[in-house]
Amino acid sequence: MEDDVPGRPDLRCEVPHEGGAAAWREFAAEFAAAGETDIPGSGGSMRADFGEWVRRLRASAEGRDLLAGRVPATTYWMMRGERIVGCGNLRHRLTPALEALGGHIGFAVRPSERRRGHAKALLRFLLARAHELGVGDVVLTCDRDNAASAAVIRACGGVLAPTAGSPGDEAVLRFVVPR
Ligand SMILES: CC(C)(COP(=O)(O)OP(=O)(O)OC[C@H]1O[C@@H](n2cnc3c(N)ncnc32)[C@H](O)[C@@H]1OP(=O)(O)O)[C@@H](O)C(=O)NCCC(=O)NCCS
Repeated sequence: MEDDVPGRPDLRCEVPHEGGAAAWREFAAEFAAAGETDIPGSGGSMRADFGEWVRRLRASAEGRDLLAGRVPATTYWMMRGERIVGCGNLRHRLTPALEALGGHIGFAVRPSERRRGHAKALLRFLLARAHELGVGDVVLTCDRDNAASAAVIRACGGVLAPTAGSPGDEAVLRFVVPR
């Protein structure tokens, strides 16, 4: 499945597929080389073999075989040509835990592609997919010291919305993008 990214004819989004193994490994290696061990929005680290991992992501998007406490979630790769430039994960609904920490959406752009507006384009794409799924207000959280993430969320309409249910964790900012 492929989707255009509005306003960015150079980019498109795809769901992970079996043919993307080399592109994924090259993308993930760049994060590792930069010392970034976690890739937000990737759908979790790849523990099984690539094909198995892709099947697991597809099952998650379809709400099949979910682990306890997990909600359906769709993972996207944002592509330029055959290169993955970013990734995003859209949780279809929230649990109480995600309400406070994690929210509906996680995203990342590879280090060599940052400061080109890719994250803003990706988050706008993910917000549109959330609305298609019937999500109203979209919740996003980020570490307080993650200035880049907070700026991207604000640029896409996010407003600070701490909740009483937050873990009292002042290291985390919670935003809502109102519908
Ligand atoms: C956060 C992240 C996705 C931003 O990606 P990006 O493609 O560089 O973001 P954009 O180019 O769309 O930036 C949009 C705006 O955010 C702000 N911004 C981006 N990077 C910034 C930084 N390092 N410091 C401060 N502001 C920043 C700027 O205002 C920027 O607009 P400008 O470049 O016109 O000034 C990227 O840094 C990343 O992948 N980080 C690691 C993973 C992560 O933290 N994900 C979010 C988890 S909640």
